[in-house]
Amino acid sequence: KDTPVIGHKRVLLAAPRGYCAGVDRAVIAVEKALDLYGAPVYVRKQIVHNTHVVSELEKLGAIFVDEVDEVPTGSHIVFSAHGVSPAVVNAAAARGLQAIDATCPLVTKVHREAVRFARDDFQILLIGHEGHEEVEGTAGEAPEHTTLVGSPDEADTIEVRDPTKVVWLSQTTLSVDETMETVRRLRARFPLLQDPPSDDICYATQNRQVAIKKVAEDAELVIVVGSANSSNSVRLVEVALEYGATAAYRVDYASEVKQEWLDGVTTVGVTSGASVPEELVDELLRDLADAGFGDVTQVKTAEEDLLFSLPKELRKDLAGKT
Ligand code: F3S
Repeated sequence: KDTPVIGHKRVLLAAPRGYCAGVDRAVIAVEKALDLYGAPVYVRKQIVHNTHVVSELEKLGAIFVDEVDEVPTGSHIVFSAHGVSPAVVNAAAARGLQAIDATCPLVTKVHREAVRFARDDFQILLIGHEGHEEVEGTAGEAPEHTTLVGSPDEADTIEVRDPTKVVWLSQTTLSVDETMETVRRLRARFPLLQDPPSDDICYATQNRQVAIKKVAEDAELVIVVGSANSSNSVRLVEVALEYGATAAYRVDYASEVKQEWLDGVTTVGVTSGASVPEELVDELLRDLADAGFGDVTQVKTAEEDLLFSLPKELRKDLAGKT
């Protein structure tokens, strides 16, 4: 353990944190669509699970809807980073909407795995949170072949059709440790359970968890910037608590931090979810500095340099414009 000077207040700032490549691409996709086609541009569901990002895009003229039938025929609609089922793609086409697919390529990868395993008549045990948009999209690729496993406990009770033809896939934003526990318990019951061809939990989720684990070892308090419906942000709070933080909270904005959280604390860990703009972390650091926590040390556990190209529909129209 790192031993700071007794009583010296400091911040340990986790890195990587904040925007992942898929979120960056999805937010830019909406901005570019607004530039290209003019407002309004419709977006199915929150483009990324962050309150601030959504309200900023609304100011620019984006209109967020729950379903495609709320969108006027002929309009542009952006599908969110979490992905959509084929049923949604078809409904948009049937309505004559011009779709721009901002599904993160790492979510699309899991969709392709689902299609392939379903074609080979596997039962897919999809580890993820019921009702999450990503899970609905992935399960929608092969509804007849997919069984949702919501927790390690559920792994003990789910039924399978044929234990020789089962594979597990997962949501991209889960806790790595908890998912491995779910898989362990599934495999205890179904020894022939196949693994996905590559990690479904994405690099960004994994990297943010590794970084906060390191920070949590030395921080009494961890503050995670992120929205309540952001799966990866909520997981960061849980991971921080598991790895040594005495207390961990999630906030959308710095203004939600309560003075009493800081009482008696010398080391505050700070991180942010994959859908969180850095300006929100900067605000938090400013407030912490005002509260005496002006000494900030970055704890970096990985470099990230992944970038995704924009959705193909946009690339085509952007190329046509120049
Ligand atoms: Fe994609 Fe992972 Fe971000 S799946 S949207 S890179 S959190």
